[in-house]
Amino acid sequence: MSYTTKSKLESADKISPVRCKGFGIQRDNGCLSMREAEDFRAECDAYIDEQIKEWQRDVASAHLPEKLEDFDWDVYRRGLLETAYRIRLLRVIESKAISQIAKTSPDAAKIWAEYEADEMTHDEMFLDDLVNSGVDISVINQYEPSLETKLLVGYFAYLLEHEGPLGVVSYSYLVEYVNVKMEMNRVDILSKLLSEPMVIGQRAHAYTDINHDHPTMVWECLSKLIKTENDKRAVFVYFDNFKKLLMMFMNGDDIKEGIKDSGNAIA
Ligand SMILES: [Fe+2]
Repeated sequence: MSYTTKSKLESADKISPVRCKGFGIQRDNGCLSMREAEDFRAECDAYIDEQIKEWQRDVASAHLPEKLEDFDWDVYRRGLLETAYRIRLLRVIESKAISQIAKTSPDAAKIWAEYEADEMTHDEMFLDDLVNSGVDISVINQYEPSLETKLLVGYFAYLLEHEGPLGVVSYSYLVEYVNVKMEMNRVDILSKLLSEPMVIGQRAHAYTDINHDHPTMVWECLSKLIKTENDKRAVFVYFDNFKKLLMMFMNGDDIKEGIKDSGNAIA
């Protein structure tokens, strides 16, 4: 007998009430107890601390000069622009991650959405400092994101399509942990070098990361996405891959070329 009759459809629904999937009814918050999540976070933090040491050893431009005459304005400006582009491009793909997370863990998706609400328009802060460094907005708008920035965003797209949202969230934990630990000190040095009005945007961004405790916010989401021991191992792979991609940017042609045609540039 056909299932197209009304009575058969009704009875089929009663027999099989689990066809609707992927809306987070299980409220899957992962396999880690609170204690295990704390221990795993300490492991991740120690791992990133080692990455910071390697970064400072291997990336010459990680260090700011002591004198203004040694300051590379072109590279500085390009760094601000690419940071703004990263935020602009990643807010699109990170928004897509929310829908994937919501399918398994509404609690993690809610935290991730709150984090995105905090973060996704912060491109303006970096652009403010770029304009304050003397670059005309019409010049800024002529620049395409660097290939390395596009590759980073492309890697996010690959992760979402083929590995899930864990890698995307791991990137934010890496970045937020490093920012809270390092960024205010870097802004202080920059302020002494360039003057405080030149770094207002970067300081506001660093304050937000610290005062809103972005590392803990992202961690609360990330820890709920750990479903297996293999997921824990994957987080370290993601940290390594993001470090490689960011180092490609620091050593890439675009950052070295900087922003040369800087309109009303100060230097
Ligand atoms: Fe942040």
